Amino acid sequence: MSSYNIGMWMYQNSGGDKIQRRLIELLKERGITVHPNLNLRYAKVRNGKINCENIVMEELDLFFSYNAGEQTLYQVYLYEMIDKFIPTINSFEAFSLSEDKFKTAHLLKRNGVNTADYVLCHRDEVTNIREILKEWGGKVVYKPTDGWGGVGLVKIENEAALDMLLPFLNQTDIRYFYLERFIQYDNTDFRIDIVDGEFVSCYGRRAPKDNWKTNITSGGSIMLREANDEVVEIAKKAVKICGLDIAGVDLIYDLEKEEYIVLEVNGIPAFATPQQEKMGLDFNEKKIDLIVDLIEKKVKGRFQNG
Ligand SMILES: Nc1ncnc2c1ncn2[C@@H]1O[C@H](COP(=O)(O)OP(=O)(O)O)[C@@H](O)[C@H]1O
Ligand SMILES: [Mg+2]
Repeated sequence: MSSYNIGMWMYQNSGGDKIQRRLIELLKERGITVHPNLNLRYAKVRNGKINCENIVMEELDLFFSYNAGEQTLYQVYLYEMIDKFIPTINSFEAFSLSEDKFKTAHLLKRNGVNTADYVLCHRDEVTNIREILKEWGGKVVYKPTDGWGGVGLVKIENEAALDMLLPFLNQTDIRYFYLERFIQYDNTDFRIDIVDGEFVSCYGRRAPKDNWKTNITSGGSIMLREANDEVVEIAKKAVKICGLDIAGVDLIYDLEKEEYIVLEVNGIPAFATPQQEKMGLDFNEKKIDLIVDLIEKKVKGRFQNG
């Protein structure tokens, strides 16, 4: 029997360990051996080899990297290199794009996917921001381009707020500012997971009272929510444009423009936690199956065209 070897680095908290065990089990049935817990933090690099836990990364058939919370610069740096030799999920290119809000919004916008209106400007060109603030009805959101969990987002509702924020930002080493028009919405969002172009699941999150951010870390709560054809089509299109094998797309409904917009495309969307499974989020098994199919297709397809 032919045998394939893949590396895996997956989050272990919130039920991630259980998901990992299931992936390993199902992949084994298909002749694919998983080397788990390949934390590149501990990789030793020397003379043409990235060695992690006694595995030469370049000699694996694929590397599955699924750990958003613990990713450091060293790991990302090595991920980029490994991607030059073996397939990675997600591809490094798509992964790094999805880590940047401006790059994602720009690519989506140019390919006809609705996003929030945005501007990017040099830190010294703040006069633009004053004009934008007026043009957008006095409400903008400042976003760090590489943030997550709703951290660092600032809603600016008038020029006074802008005048407060700018000196602070100028003290940081940020080179540019990324701003979005503040979208009027019902404070709920859609999270749609896609694996290999297929719809996996849909749920929603609701912002807490007196807050406009739906992130769980901002106090948001999960809600069961059916998808509709429109959000699924938009999500699939967004993921395809970004080139992601696995993604979670966040959408909201813009009440003024009366259309759905894509807020964010996440390259490492979490599985349902054991607690969320109890609430009725039952997509883990389907997502696991699709990921197993995807990995099998990638490792076995590698040698077929050569
Ligand atoms: N332009 C916007 N208008 C209104 N609300 C927004 C806007 N951008 C983000 N939000 C709210 O803030 C939350 C976090 O924004 P997001 O861009 O997803 O950043 P993060 O990566 O930190 O989650 C979103 O889930 C949404 O509830
Ligand atoms: Mg988000």
